[in-house]
Amino acid sequence: MANITVNTRRSVGTINRNLFGHFSEHLGRCIYQGLYVGENSPIPNVNGIRADVAQALRNLHIPVLRWPGGCFADEYHWRDGVGPKADRKRMVNTHWGYVVEDNSFGTHEFLELCRQLGCEPYINGNLGSGTVREMSEWVEYLNSDGDSSVVRERRQNGREEPFNVKYFGVGNENWGCGGNMRPEYYADEYRRYQTYCRNYGENKLFRIACGPSDVDYQWTEVLMKNAARYMDAITMHYYTILGPDWQHKGSATAFTAQEFYTTLRKALAIEPMISKHLQIMDRYDPEHRVGLIVDEWGTWHNVEPGTNPGFLYQQNTMRDALVAALTLNAFIAHCDRVVMANIAQTVNVLQAVVLTEGDKMALTPTYHVFDLYQAHQDAAAADCFIQGDMAAEGLCQLHASASFKNGALTLTVANASADKPAEVTVALDGFTAREVSARVLVGAMDDYNDFTHTAVAPKALDSVKIAEGQLRFTLPACSVAELTCR
Ligand code: AHR
Repeated sequence: MANITVNTRRSVGTINRNLFGHFSEHLGRCIYQGLYVGENSPIPNVNGIRADVAQALRNLHIPVLRWPGGCFADEYHWRDGVGPKADRKRMVNTHWGYVVEDNSFGTHEFLELCRQLGCEPYINGNLGSGTVREMSEWVEYLNSDGDSSVVRERRQNGREEPFNVKYFGVGNENWGCGGNMRPEYYADEYRRYQTYCRNYGENKLFRIACGPSDVDYQWTEVLMKNAARYMDAITMHYYTILGPDWQHKGSATAFTAQEFYTTLRKALAIEPMISKHLQIMDRYDPEHRVGLIVDEWGTWHNVEPGTNPGFLYQQNTMRDALVAALTLNAFIAHCDRVVMANIAQTVNVLQAVVLTEGDKMALTPTYHVFDLYQAHQDAAAADCFIQGDMAAEGLCQLHASASFKNGALTLTVANASADKPAEVTVALDGFTAREVSARVLVGAMDDYNDFTHTAVAPKALDSVKIAEGQLRFTLPACSVAELTCR
């Protein structure tokens, strides 16, 4: 038995649609083969962008897409990726698999992808190995309408109007792959680089500083102390990793029930981390002008056997779906301060929502969680109080988020028990439900979809009914449900 009380009169804030954002890096088969196949590919495409994947992502209404990295961002030189493709520079992607990067996917192709997806671009600049001038000119190339040589270059490359890119990151993981900097040094470099990232016309750049990895509170402290007034947001990265170290992260598909619960407990650890970073930010930004962006999150398992270890290709089970639900709930709980989040990564890398093999495509359980959570985009978060059992030690069975938009109340509920269904009653405070419909994603904890079979996809949750003003339903074990009340 579990009781949930949803109170639409108590709201922490509006759920920024950008909490459901994505991240795509020049890594493995995310960009090449996953999102981009080129105009001459036999795989159906529009201007080189895979038609099937683009349609699947449009169906999710993904709001924002981060590119080109990740670690790749701090060795990416944007001019290598513009102009005639035959003349583009070739490089070896030393971070990821030592494969040749032919730069056929560059600035124009990324912005064409965002146009086709109907999402905002979030471009991450190179502070680690690029110059101030290079970053400054990239912003000018993207956004200026003046008659400068840089803008003429863009026009020669086929784009007359400025792209008006808003979200711009000044370096990535500069404490690690982005230059192994100390926070004091990065703070000074950040101040310098961002100075030359100009606003052009009506477009006001949203400047994003590279924040900490998970519990590195010292990084947040030093950066906020020295550079808060020069940024609109600070980032944070957190990956859910089961194993004790990078060599033994654990299989994506073969795990025990204990490992399932440990993974979910590790996913939940993001919430107190967010709280603590926000407390530190409060000291230097009491007006809450600076937002927190979790621009890399998700599960990181061992790569699939036989695949390039540098490609980070992993399968995706119902365990990943639960991780997605629990993590999105943490962002929603802090939606007054967390202004964007980007799952790593969109296609074929880490906790991907889409997998491809040749011309085939599979939608992962994580994809379906993003689908079930869509109605939360730009909705008012509603307070959600849960009383129920434990799924395992230190892990509640039920996890929920609720929101209110256009007269409809949406409740998403996850059952983190691998084997126990829950009889759920939902009391609604401030809302009268006249009708309810519900969908559920359910499977065994290790169920996954591949190119020959679909084990899990949302289906109707028929048990739901309204009785005495309350919602009642049976939530199957290992599931994520979406209930819509009007
Ligand atoms: O998402 C994979 C990598 O993880 C990114 O390139 C990097 O920023 C992080 O360490």
